[in-house]
Amino acid sequence: MGNKKQVEERLTSLRKEIEYHNYRYYVLDDPVITDIEFDKLMKELVELESKYPELVTGSSPTQRVGALPDTAFTEVIHRTPMMSLSNTYSIQELKSFDARVRKAVPGEPVEYAAELKIDGLAVSLTYEDGYFIRGATRGDGTRGEDVTHNLKTIRSIPLRLIHNGQITVDVRGEVFMPRREFKSLNEERRLGGEGLFANPRNAAAGSLRQIDPKITAARQLDIFAYGIGDISGIMLNTQMEVLDFLRESGFRVNPNVKLCSGINEVVDFIKDWDKKRDNLDYDIDGVVVKVNSLELQRRLGTTTRSPRWSVAYKFPAKQGMTVIKDIVIQVGRTGTLTPVAILEPVELAGSVVSRASLHNEDIIISKDIRIGDTVIVEKGGDIIPDIIKVIPQQRTGNERKFVMPLKCPECGSDVVRAEGEVASRCTGTDCPAQIREGIIFFVSRNAMNIEGMGPRVISQLIDSGLVRKPCDIYFLSFEDLIRLDRIGEKSANNLLAAIEKSKTRPLHRLVKALGIRHVGERTARDLAEHFGSLIKLSEATYDQLINIPEVGPKVAESIVRFFSDSENLECLEKLQSAGVNMKEGIRPPLPEEPSPFLGKTIVFTGALKRRTRKEAEDLISRLGGKTSGSVSRNTDYVIAGEDPGSKYDKAKAFGTRILTEEEFEMMLKEEKT
Ligand code: IVH
Repeated sequence: MGNKKQVEERLTSLRKEIEYHNYRYYVLDDPVITDIEFDKLMKELVELESKYPELVTGSSPTQRVGALPDTAFTEVIHRTPMMSLSNTYSIQELKSFDARVRKAVPGEPVEYAAELKIDGLAVSLTYEDGYFIRGATRGDGTRGEDVTHNLKTIRSIPLRLIHNGQITVDVRGEVFMPRREFKSLNEERRLGGEGLFANPRNAAAGSLRQIDPKITAARQLDIFAYGIGDISGIMLNTQMEVLDFLRESGFRVNPNVKLCSGINEVVDFIKDWDKKRDNLDYDIDGVVVKVNSLELQRRLGTTTRSPRWSVAYKFPAKQGMTVIKDIVIQVGRTGTLTPVAILEPVELAGSVVSRASLHNEDIIISKDIRIGDTVIVEKGGDIIPDIIKVIPQQRTGNERKFVMPLKCPECGSDVVRAEGEVASRCTGTDCPAQIREGIIFFVSRNAMNIEGMGPRVISQLIDSGLVRKPCDIYFLSFEDLIRLDRIGEKSANNLLAAIEKSKTRPLHRLVKALGIRHVGERTARDLAEHFGSLIKLSEATYDQLINIPEVGPKVAESIVRFFSDSENLECLEKLQSAGVNMKEGIRPPLPEEPSPFLGKTIVFTGALKRRTRKEAEDLISRLGGKTSGSVSRNTDYVIAGEDPGSKYDKAKAFGTRILTEEEFEMMLKEEKT
C-alpha cells in the first residue's frame, strides 16, 4: 500500500472496525467475530502504524497500553465538581428525602431513577469533540489525579464516542474490579507471597494508581458509566435519557436500573437488590436514587457538598463488633505462615463468624491488631471475613501484641521472610502442615479431583505413614485404606475408584496439582500446551521457560527449582509408573457440523435426570463447548436441572440464557440429526 491517502483510509477504517469489535466484546459481551479474526485486524493495524508512525493517533486502539505516561497523577481540576451523595441507612430516612423533594416542587409528580450503587471508585472521563482526552479520579471533588493512561486500558471505555461525533462531555462512572478477577488476583498474589487486597474496591483503587499501565491492563478493571458532568452539543431531559445516551455512545451502563413512579417503588427495588446482590459479579453497597427530570434536578439544586435531588441508600453493613480471643498460625502448602484471628463468635449477615484471616504480619502491624482487642469485622459477599479496624477506646491495657514466630509451629524449622515479600515462610522440607496442605491441594476439585479424599482421610494417611508425597496416593491398596478409622469396605472401594479415575486428568490439571510456587491455573494451562508432556516440562531450562510469553523470571526460576529437587523427580517417576496421564491429551475432535455449543460456555446447576453431570460436561466438551463452575458475563447458557442453586439466580441477574434439561436434550438431538 504505497499511496499515503490509501494508507490513511485503511487506518481509519481498521480503527473503527477494531473499536466496534472491542465494544461488542467488552461492553455488550456479544462478539461477532472470533478472537483470531480480531487479532488479525489488530496485527494489520500495528504493522501499518509501525510503518507510518506519523499517522498514529492518540485514540488509536493500539494506544490503549501506551508508553509510560508523563502526565501520570498530575492534578486535574474538574470542569464540574464531582459531588458526593448524602447517605441514608433506613427506609424512613429515604422517605424523608422523598418528602423534602416533593415539598420543594408542590403538586408536581416526581419520578425517580433507582440505580445500583457500585462499590468502586468514581472517575471523570473528558471527551472533546467525541474523543477521549483525559480521565481523572474524584480526588477531593474539585481536584483529582490524571489517570488517563490507566483508564485507556479499560476496554469498555470508548476512545471515541459512537454515534455522537462532535460532543464535548464529562462522563462520570464507577471503576470496579469484578469479584472473579479480584479472587484470582489475590490468589496469584498469595502464591507469590505478595500482600493481599482487602476487597475489590481497594484492588481497583490500587490498580488504577499504577504508574505502569501494563500492570493496570493486566488487572481487568471495568466501569459502569452513570452520569454526566458538563455537556455541550446535545439536549437531554431525564436521567434515564442520560443513561441511554451513555449506552448509545458506547459505554457500559448497568442494566439494573428502574424508573420508579414514586418512593414506594424505589423501596421495592432496594429490597429486591438487598436479597440478590451476592449473585452479582461485582460489589454494590447500596442503591442511588435520583430525581429523573433534569429540569427538576436543576430547580432543586445542591448544597455545598451534595445534590438535593439524589440520595444514596446504603445496605445494612455486614459488619459487627467482636473480640479477638487469640491469633493462631496456619501453615499453607507453600509454607506461608498465615496469622488467623480466633474471634468471639459473632453473627454477620445470617452466619456465625469465629475466624478471620489476618493475611500477614504487615497488615497486623498497620492495623495495630492485638490479642484481646475489640474489633470491627466485616463479611462481604462470598469473601472471607475481614478485620476492618480496632477500637482502641475499648482497650484495657491487657492486650498482647502479636509476634510472628521464629520457628514453624508445626515442624520447628526456621521461619524466614524474604526481602520485599510480606509473607513469612517455614523453611522446613518435611513440615507436616505443608505436606498435608500440599496433598489437600493435589486432590482438590480443580486439580486432580479425587472425590472422597477429604482433609480427615488425608490426615490419617499421613499420620499412619502411608502417604508423604502426592504420588504415594497412587500406591494405596484396599488393605491400606480399610485399616483407617471410619473407612469401611464401600468407601475404600469408592476411594480406589476415584484415585483410578484421576489418572486420566488432562496434563494441565496435573501441572497445577503439583503446587509449584507461582504456577496457578493459567500458567499451568500455558505450560501444558507449550510442552505437551510433564517429562518435557521437567527437562525445560530456565532459558526455554523464560521464552514463553506468559512466563516471567519468578515463574521460570520456581519451575526449574521444583524439578531439580530429587524428591520431586522421584515423585514424577512414581506418577509415571502408576499410569497417571502425563501428556497433553488428544483434544476431543471438533464436531464437523456446526454445533450449537461450539465455542460456548455452559454452566450446569441443579440435578439432571437423564445423565450425570460429568457425562453432560464431557458431551459439551466433545461438541466444542466449555463448561464452567460459575456464572459470569461470559456464560452463554445455564442449564438448570432440578433444585437449581444460586447459579440460577445469578444467571437471571445477568440475563444469561437459561435452558431446562428438556431444552438442552432437544438441542443435543438436533445436533445428532
Ligand atoms: S451518582 C453527585 N450513581 O457513589 C454525585 N454515584 O457519593 C453523583 N456511585 O462518589 C453520583 N454508583 O462514586 C452515582 N449509580 C451511581 C453510582 C454512584 C456508585 C458512587 C460514586 C459517588 C458515590 C456517592
